[in-house]
Amino acid sequence: MPRIFSGVQPTGNLHLGNYLGAIRNFVRLQDDYECIYCAVDMHAITVWQDPANLRSNTREVAAAYLAAGVDPKASIIFAQSTVPAHAELAWIFNCIARLGWLNRMTQFKEKAGKNRENASLGLYAYPSLMAADILAYKATHVPVGEDQKQHLELTRDIAQKFNNDYGTETFPIVEPLIFGEATRVMSLRDGAKKMSKSDPSDYSRITFTDDRDMIAKKLRKARTDADPLPAEEKGLEGRPEAANLVGIYAALADITKQQVLDKYAGSQFSVFKPALTDLAVETFGPVGEEMKRLMGDPAHVDAILKDGAERAIALAEPVLKEVKEVVGFLAP
Ligand code: AMP
Ligand code: TRP
Repeated sequence: MPRIFSGVQPTGNLHLGNYLGAIRNFVRLQDDYECIYCAVDMHAITVWQDPANLRSNTREVAAAYLAAGVDPKASIIFAQSTVPAHAELAWIFNCIARLGWLNRMTQFKEKAGKNRENASLGLYAYPSLMAADILAYKATHVPVGEDQKQHLELTRDIAQKFNNDYGTETFPIVEPLIFGEATRVMSLRDGAKKMSKSDPSDYSRITFTDDRDMIAKKLRKARTDADPLPAEEKGLEGRPEAANLVGIYAALADITKQQVLDKYAGSQFSVFKPALTDLAVETFGPVGEEMKRLMGDPAHVDAILKDGAERAIALAEPVLKEVKEVVGFLAP
């Protein structure tokens, strides 16, 4: 069975974009793939994380996977820092990846902002650790939101260069799996910005912990334009906020954007927003509630993470051993 790897950073504020772009897809792939899902705490600390929050957020990512329907028996759920192979392979990849490749990464530019001199070295090397996450398991498919496409291209470049430099076929060339009607959910406050954990406005995102009232309030305040919904998808062009809400509806209802428009063509947002609220509360609400319930039993979550780490180590160790031999490291 082909192998899947994906990860989410435990940096708090898990949101609807994380769910529709990534976590929900994780669940759907379980029948056809061997799946490994990680809370990437080592990636999280590339920007400052308070230790107590990091611990809690790491459990929260695991709880979100479980609440969404990842089966911890069939799939592996674990925390990145508990499997040493990630850090070890990342170092080797730091010696494969070229500065020029990393200089092109848009996520680094966005996160480092204007004061690039003050960004951590880890933030710069972030994509190399991500390649290590995936390739430590020789995973071939990676479900992510659209914003991770460039990082996965870098993973392919690293695998290719490693194989070429050493004249081997050690690593597979990975394929991104970006699917669904909401691969890039936008901020509710600004249709030009993606929904993100770090947006200073809470009203920009719907989170896993929002209750019905909060979801309703955030959607009521969501920015829109003054026109009714169009009959055809091309009528959404140049209307980023409308397109975003229609995309969210389509993804939550598991239908296409055109099917949403077939139902709501000519409707004002005063009609569409309450319908979207009901749908979000019905479909996404229970996932958040289950996540909160699981957070009340951290020992249960920790036991799942521990079991996952043991299984992940068993898969990654032979790969790392092979890589070290290829590189010319002596056996211990
Ligand atoms: P992160 O929050 O950066 O750790 O992202 C975890 C996963 O959620 C990755 O697969 C991202 O591509 C995905 N993701 C994050 N934000 C969005 C968004 N606004 N829309 C769709 N997918 C997203
Ligand atoms: N960079 C990803 C994000 O911010 C998280 C991530 C880390 C990841 N390692 C990964 C995703 C490996 C897929 C595979 O969203």
